Amino acid sequence: DLSVSWLGLAMANPLYNASGVMCRSVAELEQVRTSAAAAVITKSCTPQPRTGNPEPRYCATALGSINSMGLPNAGYPYYLDYARSYPYAAGKPLFLSLSGMTLQENLDMLSDLAAAQLPCLPEVNLSCPNLPGKPQLGYDFQACHEALTQMARVYHGPFGVKLPPYFDPVHFARMAAVLNAFPALRFVTCINSIGNGLVIDVDRESVVIKPKDGLGGLGGSYVLPTALANVREFYRLLPGKHVVGCGGINSGREAFMHILAGATAVQIGTCLYEEGEGAFARILDELRALMAHKGYQRLDDFRGKLKTL
Ligand code: DHB
Repeated sequence: DLSVSWLGLAMANPLYNASGVMCRSVAELEQVRTSAAAAVITKSCTPQPRTGNPEPRYCATALGSINSMGLPNAGYPYYLDYARSYPYAAGKPLFLSLSGMTLQENLDMLSDLAAAQLPCLPEVNLSCPNLPGKPQLGYDFQACHEALTQMARVYHGPFGVKLPPYFDPVHFARMAAVLNAFPALRFVTCINSIGNGLVIDVDRESVVIKPKDGLGGLGGSYVLPTALANVREFYRLLPGKHVVGCGGINSGREAFMHILAGATAVQIGTCLYEEGEGAFARILDELRALMAHKGYQRLDDFRGKLKTL
């Protein structure tokens, strides 16, 4: 039994897509929804459609991926339409990822979503690293506090945020203090890509993506230990809230690690991009086998129970 119930939602298993992967068009969203995934999240959207950064803007390597997509998306109304027609009764929760270019854009989308009264949940993205000239909001604690204050005024229902990775215990504590001031903030997704890495192709003596002279967000195996540290620390520092794990899950083993670190559910990004939606069933099979081997019946048997030495 891999089921998860949280925030009043029932999921048959803990897996879904990471925002950005297989979720820009209705066709892609439906690919996730009709797969073995137990929930669906949309591509981060802005009020208006965007074409994003110039290509090539994604590249996979043996250890993961680098991307600088630049928020290509079909625009908030497109994803709202999808949310309006979504078959919630089929039991796969829908999350709407919002990533306004300004606080006002996030407030506009959240106000509209509140008025729509849909059973989907917003995941507000505080961490897009790929907009030239725009710092990631998640690294400015004061600005996050202000943004969350204003967002909580216009949106009263449960919501979550997508966080960038942090790398210092003082920063974990400071961000947790900000987040704990908002009771309606019910979940955090850790982590977004490790921003502004550089992958180099030795044969071509070149960068591998065009935007920002090759700098881009890292995903996949490169980021697993950083993701696990963020899941673990926010699990400890945000009592009563949920942590959704994201980063470096390629098999049942990494899904197990995230849940052992405290994740309620987990998202698949790079691996889903590279393998396609069959990744969900494979990872679930592997997670089931690992749990059987260990004698675990349910995720609750080991969630958060990471041992220290
Ligand atoms: C994009 C990348 C991100 O990591 C993110 O959180 C949002 C958008 C992008 O480049 O499209």
